[in-house]
Formats: sequence, structure tokens, C-alpha cells
Amino acid sequence: MEKTKVAVVGMGVVGSGVARLLLDQGDRTARHAGRTLWLERVVVRDVERARELELPAGVLSDDLSLIIDDPEIKLVAQLIGGLEPARTIMLQLLESGKDIVTANKALLAEHGGELFDRARELGRSIAFEAAVAGGIPIITSIGQCLSANQINLLQGILNGTSNFIVTEMEEHGADYAATVAQAQKLGYAEADPTMDVDGSDVAQKLAILAHLAFGARVHWQDIPRQGIDRLSPTDIQYASQLGYRIKLIAVAERTDQRLELHVSPTLVRMGRPLAEVRGAYNAVSVVGDAVGRTFFHGLGAGQMPTASAVVADMIDTAVGRTQITFRTLELWSRRESGVGLLQHRESSSRFYLRFSVNDHPGVLAQIAGILGENAISIASVMQHESSENGGDHQIPLIIMTHSASEGAAQDALAEIDQLDSVQAGSIRMRVLDR
Ligand code: HSE
Repeated sequence: MEKTKVAVVGMGVVGSGVARLLLDQGDRTARHAGRTLWLERVVVRDVERARELELPAGVLSDDLSLIIDDPEIKLVAQLIGGLEPARTIMLQLLESGKDIVTANKALLAEHGGELFDRARELGRSIAFEAAVAGGIPIITSIGQCLSANQINLLQGILNGTSNFIVTEMEEHGADYAATVAQAQKLGYAEADPTMDVDGSDVAQKLAILAHLAFGARVHWQDIPRQGIDRLSPTDIQYASQLGYRIKLIAVAERTDQRLELHVSPTLVRMGRPLAEVRGAYNAVSVVGDAVGRTFFHGLGAGQMPTASAVVADMIDTAVGRTQITFRTLELWSRRESGVGLLQHRESSSRFYLRFSVNDHPGVLAQIAGILGENAISIASVMQHESSENGGDHQIPLIIMTHSASEGAAQDALAEIDQLDSVQAGSIRMRVLDR
């Protein structure tokens, strides 16, 4: 059988999984690729570091030139995280004639334009199914399988670590810090988990998906975002009493010719598919004008789910499919999409509001008055009876609103937070009923 020599750069969690699949499942990959994917070289920074997987003699090296200068290696899985040296290595590999497979979403979200332009100039390809939602084939689905559609809405849970944390907090009352540590140990979290929990990782993935689905060339830092790092167990409990679960939701929605993009902790009604996504699972719902609503669910982080996507991309590249779609999709090209971004203040939603108020006469009326002045209609109010007979102690007041604009909600809360009877820092979260 014909042999295609391949290489891997970086042997962290994902790189080890890729090497394991290539070595242990060679027959399977050969059957799908119509040729053997021969792991010729693995290049790492430190060859002395202990590794979970033993490679065949002579494969492991710290010398990148062994890949760059080997014309028989045409396909490289570039699996180092972060921006540098990942970007420089990717450019060097492209310059030396290699097709690339990567899982590095941060790199694509930051330097996708430069890397894709260079790959096009050199007649090479970059495949990146593993960069968004790990094992869920969402890149291929949006870029190819749903290409007969105008996509109107994309909603998703795109960070396994955050979803793992909120699930543990909801189901077991788990401690936040301990759960982050557990997610790192299980290989879900980034090396620096801050990006996982503050919404940045999700914004990077949403920027990539929005680019594919809507042709929007948006920098991830321009996407309004909030993470779960300040989420309180109190809100998880109140949400549950109201029939909702809190999830870190990414949204890209087309309205007329404008695109709304944001990432935020959101109350999702129990029973909706996104509310039932547990643990490190990811999910993406895509609504197209021809296909209707679709729902993708699977593990979005972790060694083997991510390796599954990387090796599938390697097979596609070895066969020649990637090169065709890479040329036709023209990703990150300067082609205009005609979709402008909706100002965040103009986007609308129902809201969950939690105030900490003094139990005084007229406080509820003051809050309701400010909401009314800002054209925000109240859908329900929840205040549990306090054991004390009114007074200066703080009690929680929960208000669910009807749909209102983000700007009106921001203005109203800023005003309410100024009231003497209300503790500053009131909580506001979006609500997803559909
Ligand atoms: N750290 C990411 C997550 C996986 O927790 O979802 C890689 O994107």
C-alpha cells in the first residue's frame, strides 16, 4: 500500500492522542485514506520530558529541520498551543511545502488572515476541524454539509471546561477552584485556564464559526463576552427554582443584514437541548433556511475527542479533499460578506435580574419604576419571605423581564445600583427560551 509520511509538532495532551491513533489504529486510518499514514517524525521542545506514550525509535526529536528539510513529509499536524512560536512554525512549515492540520483556535482567531493568505499563495492547505468543539464535526458541517443554506442562527456551548464547572456546581455544589483543577487534570482546560472561564476561548471559537457561517471577519476581542468566573452558586440555585440552568452560551444571529455576536452566562430553560448538555460536553445548534434547526453534541475537549478530529483532517488531507475545500471556501480571504455587526446595546433578550435590597417600603416600586422608564417590562418577581420583619438587612429580589434591549438593561441596572436601598453590583443575565 502507498505510504504518506506525516509528522507531528508538539506532543502535549492532543499530540499524544494523535500519535496513539496513528500508531495503534494504522489499519483503520489506511482503510479510510487509501494509504498508510506513516508517523515519520514527532518534534517537541524537550525530548527528555517523561511522556505517556512510547514512540518507535528515532521518531522523537527536538529538531524542526528534520521535518522542514524532509521533502517526503508533506503533511504535518501542528499541535502546539498559544501564538508564538506556533505562528512562526506554521509559516515555516507552509514555506517548506507542507499541508497543515491544527487544533490551535487561538492562533487562527488571531492570525487566520495571515496564515490562510500565505497558504493560498503557496498552494498549501490548513485544516482545523479540531480547533472548535473538539470531537464535534462542526467545521465540516457548516463549511460543507450545510452550504446550501443561509445560516440564520448559531447557538452553542463551546467550552468544555466551563460547562464541566457549571455542571459540577449545579449538581454537586462543587467548589469552583477545585473543579477548575480537576478540568486541568482531565485535559479539558487550556494551559492557562483563565481563557476557558472568562469567555475568551469561546469568543475565539465563535469568531471562527461566525467567519465560516456568515462570512463575518471579526476579531474575537471585538465580541462582547463574559465568562463564568464570577458566577455565584446563588444564581445557579435561583435559576433552578425558576426552571432554568445557567450555561455559558455563544450566539451568532443574523437579523436583516446584521450579525449579533456575544458570549455570556445565560439561563436556558430546562428541557431545551442546550440546557441538558452536561460535563465537558459541547453542543452547537445551527439554524439554516433550508435545513431548519440542527443540533450537534459531543465532547468538545480532551485528548481522544480532539485527536479524532485531527486524524480525520490528516486523512482528508492525505486523500486530497482538504485542498479542494480549502481552495473553494476561501476562508479569511478579503472577500466582502456584506454582513455588518449589530451594536451590542441594540441586541435584545429577556433578562434575569438579581438585586440585593433592604426590606423597606417602596424599594420594589422604585426598581419597577426605573425598569418601566427604560421600557423594560417585568415578567415575574420572586422574593422569599424573610424571618425578620423588614429592616436594613439585605434580601435577594429576583426579577425576570420580557424582551428588552441590552442597552436599556445596562442603563436601568446602572441607575438601580445607585439607589440607597440597593447594594451595588446587581446581577444581570440573558435568558434563552428558544
Ligand atoms: N479548553 C477547551 C475547552 C478545549 O475546555 O473546551 C480546547 O478548545
